[in-house]
Amino acid sequence: MHVSDKRTLHLPLRLEAIVRMVSRVDCVADIGSDHGLVPLALVGRGIVGRAIAIEVALGPLQAVKAAFERQHYRLEARLGDGMQPLRQGEVQGVVVAGMGGATIWRILTDAYAGKLLKADLPELVLQPMDAPGLIRWFARRSGYEIDRDVWLGDRGISYNVLRLTAPAALREADFAGAYDEFLKLSIKSRVELEYGSAVYDLTNAAFAAHWRLQVAKHKRIVAHLERSVSVEAKRRYAQVMEWLDGMNRLRPFE
Ligand SMILES: C[S@@+](CC[C@H](N)C(=O)[O-])C[C@H]1O[C@@H](n2cnc3c(N)ncnc32)[C@H](O)[C@@H]1O
Repeated sequence: MHVSDKRTLHLPLRLEAIVRMVSRVDCVADIGSDHGLVPLALVGRGIVGRAIAIEVALGPLQAVKAAFERQHYRLEARLGDGMQPLRQGEVQGVVVAGMGGATIWRILTDAYAGKLLKADLPELVLQPMDAPGLIRWFARRSGYEIDRDVWLGDRGISYNVLRLTAPAALREADFAGAYDEFLKLSIKSRVELEYGSAVYDLTNAAFAAHWRLQVAKHKRIVAHLERSVSVEAKRRYAQVMEWLDGMNRLRPFE
């Protein structure tokens, strides 16, 4: 298939939402690209002029390269960890999707990424598979603004997709100690970061499904810990109860 056919490339809803959040710019990098569908769609639909797929693993990198070879010079695949393979000023946006929040945090906050963010990286489109609180904490610490915070349901799973945009001058791009600070936040703050503003949107079915699963999961953990007598289990029990209480205050359980 030629790249021009990619205008009609049919994507799963999760990837479609990600692609639609990317602004029309010259060049975007997709970190942890795997199948390469996001850069293929971005270039194929003319949303961006060029796209760079970055992969830390050789297998996916080779698959992406093969998909791109049949395509166009505007698509490039590079091997490397996070933003390391990017040069300063080369991209105006970065997509990091389908990974855990802690992995995305690490990609965004290593020393080299800090340099790129500080230099000029106006847009980040992020889709964590868990721990989205870390993404909101990253925004708060860095000065990036969350200008889209969307929940969508795709084949029975709820996904959170966030778009962060950089103000003219970033507050901070040195994240030493920021992860530990996150861990020391009060449970109330952690709960607020984890679920974001969607808790107030009672019409959002994807978020409601996610919320129900989270409530059930935490209640299951409590029931399990209740049966245990160890000191560690009691400490954990108190934590999870506090988390549940924080959730209930934020959006009262039915
Ligand atoms: C589950 S896939 C997600 C693929 C795609 N982004 C999506 O959302 O469907 C995660 C991919 O990220 C890659 N990956 C994980 N950590 C990475 C890192 N630090 N730098 C680059 N790629 C990474 C993995 O090799 C894997 O191919």
